[in-house]
Amino acid sequence: MTSTPESNTKPLKGIRGEALTFVADPFLEKGKKCHRYWKDALIVMQDGHIVDVGDYAEVAPRHPGLTDIDTYTDALIMPGFIDCHVHYVQVSMIGSFGDTLLDWLDTYTFPTEAQFADKDFADENARVFFRQILSQGTTTANVFATTFETSVDAFFEESERYDTRMISGKVLQDRNLPDSLKDPSPEESVALAEKLLRKWHGRGRQMYAVIPRFAPTCSDRQLRLAGELYRKYIDRGVYMHTHLDEAPGEIEWVRMLFPDCKTYTDVYRQFGLVDRRSVMAHCCIVKEEEWQTLHDCGCGVAHCPSSNLFLGGGQFRYWEAKQRTRPCRVGMGTDVGGGTNFSIPRQLGEAYKVAMLQQKSIDAERCFYLATRGGAEALHLEDTIGTLAPGFEADIAVLDLKPTEYAGWRLGFSKSIFDKLFVLQTLGATSLVKATYVAGKKVFDIDRAEKFRYAADL
Ligand code: GUN
Ligand code: ZN
Repeated sequence: MTSTPESNTKPLKGIRGEALTFVADPFLEKGKKCHRYWKDALIVMQDGHIVDVGDYAEVAPRHPGLTDIDTYTDALIMPGFIDCHVHYVQVSMIGSFGDTLLDWLDTYTFPTEAQFADKDFADENARVFFRQILSQGTTTANVFATTFETSVDAFFEESERYDTRMISGKVLQDRNLPDSLKDPSPEESVALAEKLLRKWHGRGRQMYAVIPRFAPTCSDRQLRLAGELYRKYIDRGVYMHTHLDEAPGEIEWVRMLFPDCKTYTDVYRQFGLVDRRSVMAHCCIVKEEEWQTLHDCGCGVAHCPSSNLFLGGGQFRYWEAKQRTRPCRVGMGTDVGGGTNFSIPRQLGEAYKVAMLQQKSIDAERCFYLATRGGAEALHLEDTIGTLAPGFEADIAVLDLKPTEYAGWRLGFSKSIFDKLFVLQTLGATSLVKATYVAGKKVFDIDRAEKFRYAADL
């Protein structure tokens, strides 16, 4: 796997060790090899991109000038993880005692998010969020900010410091929530969203999403204007991101608020919000016609199992989402603070259990696909991130195959790399990630005195 000869003079950097990446969807390509695995790989990076990958013995001679190589043993090099749905504004409220989703929103979430009018508070939360996700190997996330301009600026400013590829935007919400968090009017809220979109979308690696929180907290007029904004910018790569079909009480509320719509998906569709760059979080209790729409429109779906378990929402049915006749683009989401931690591998452990509760299972090959290339597909970034191959952005996670004394010993009994990954996702060690590279720079290193570093300081 090599690319065109190095055409610029920027320095080369290498990462060497055992490595794994996906090249196709194992839910759909039965029997075909959907991954590439190297016992001793060399990944060559230049100017933020991967320029060569393969067996060390083959790749190294092609780059005689390459001397700067980080070598890892007892480790597995993978594409950085992709979190397709998370609320950075909820980092201070993980583990808030819940009853139902709607009670939890009223009691904890809305008051927490109301504090983001304060830029210093937003800055602090953004700082914490990035340190947490980078220490878990997540390099791209599709992120809810909240109502306020401050919440969006704080997020993207911190992302720029790390040079991460991130998607975020102002949350649109103008009804059924406290005045302190409510948008003043549909027109003003969407005008602010457009202002922020023009400021941040395409600036470095930052990307913007139009984010109506969910149908119950948006007026018809706000949803209509949000749809217009989305369609105005969709060809420039702007996203739409919202919640869909998460919990029974929520779905019942939507039915009462929009009695003329046949399904929850139809509510968004009638306002022009269901299209090829729409990402829908949860999709647990989904009717067949909704899956068909999500497939037909090319929407992304974020599976958020730890949140669904914590908030007692629905149970995601991956075999429906991935049905061969109309497969959807699916990735994983932590949904922090409904989700209980920042680790995508730990979400995989929960995804397995959610499937088992429904008498299905999901193996580690399909799980780690969802965590990387699947996530990139859900975000329509499968040509940019989520795969170790020439031309892709060099966002990389290095997993520790001995993250704890017990895990190291236990893995000695596992044969294949997927056996090992299944054990690791099940054990869910918090110290699973040794190092995280963003655009070729090691922004997190568990063994470095200063664990986190901004891109400009590297
Ligand atoms: N639905 C609307 N808002 C939220 C939220 O903040 N978290 C979750 N899990 N579901 C939601
Ligand atoms: Zn959410």
